[in-house]
Amino acid sequence: MPKVLISDSMSSVAQKIFEKNNISVDVKTGLSEEEIIKIIPDYDGMVVRSATKVTKNIMEAAKNLKVIGRAGAGVDNIDVPTAKEKNMIVMNTPGGNANATAEHTFALIMSVLRKIPFANETTHKGKWGKKNIKGTELSKKTLGIVGFGNVGVRLSNLVKGFDMKILVHSKSLESRKSEYPHVETKNHFKKMKPTSYIINAARGNIVDENDLNDALNENLIAGAAVDVFSKEPASENILFNNPKAVLTPHVAASTTEASIVVAEMVANQIADFLLNGVKKNTV
Ligand code: MLT
Repeated sequence: MPKVLISDSMSSVAQKIFEKNNISVDVKTGLSEEEIIKIIPDYDGMVVRSATKVTKNIMEAAKNLKVIGRAGAGVDNIDVPTAKEKNMIVMNTPGGNANATAEHTFALIMSVLRKIPFANETTHKGKWGKKNIKGTELSKKTLGIVGFGNVGVRLSNLVKGFDMKILVHSKSLESRKSEYPHVETKNHFKKMKPTSYIINAARGNIVDENDLNDALNENLIAGAAVDVFSKEPASENILFNNPKAVLTPHVAASTTEASIVVAEMVANQIADFLLNGVKKNTV
């Protein structure tokens, strides 16, 4: 009977799917690299979210490991080149949390444009900040989406009713442009206007945090909303306490619905691979 380790907390639906398929499953979360190294030789499959870093050292020790499944999209916590060298399959769950991420991105847009965190904080403190809070509307503005995968496409559909111009920068869009008549493409976002906002719900290292902080402080742009950081968990960051930045702790995909979908997807994919050799959503 194949054996799978779930090493990050996720919906119990994953465990149930393995059990239903007669795959032995252990849920052991919060383990250090050393602790994983000790137990990993027992397992044929491993399921992670983002907390477990699946390092080369773990893979060296994983004598029976055939598949690593990521309940989510990003595989930056998995040493994919080493996995490939060792013929281990790495799978993710593309699209499983795209709606959650797009909705949170939209929430960040609204929060920063309408200054919701500041309004919330001051109102709770009994400071009636009405005179100091003036928002910006989306209508007649331009939304620039960098990258047009599952999340970018979903966001472009969500904002359809807001009377915005939508520009997309994407390497892969050219060939499938006819599917998305509501967006235009633009190759470079070279100059940003002082009235513009940057929203990052992708990965922290795609926007230079020092430059972003300077741009905010020098009024080169109007504001930013950021869900992802160059170093996570982020206990310190240059953007902390910048009043023009709305920050959330990498929770764009964290909804009840998405956590069930990604757990279901990854467990079904791994079960199908271990029992039938089917490779789906490999990276
Ligand atoms: C993803 O890659 O799926 C998201 O960033 C959410 C997560 O880290 O699980």
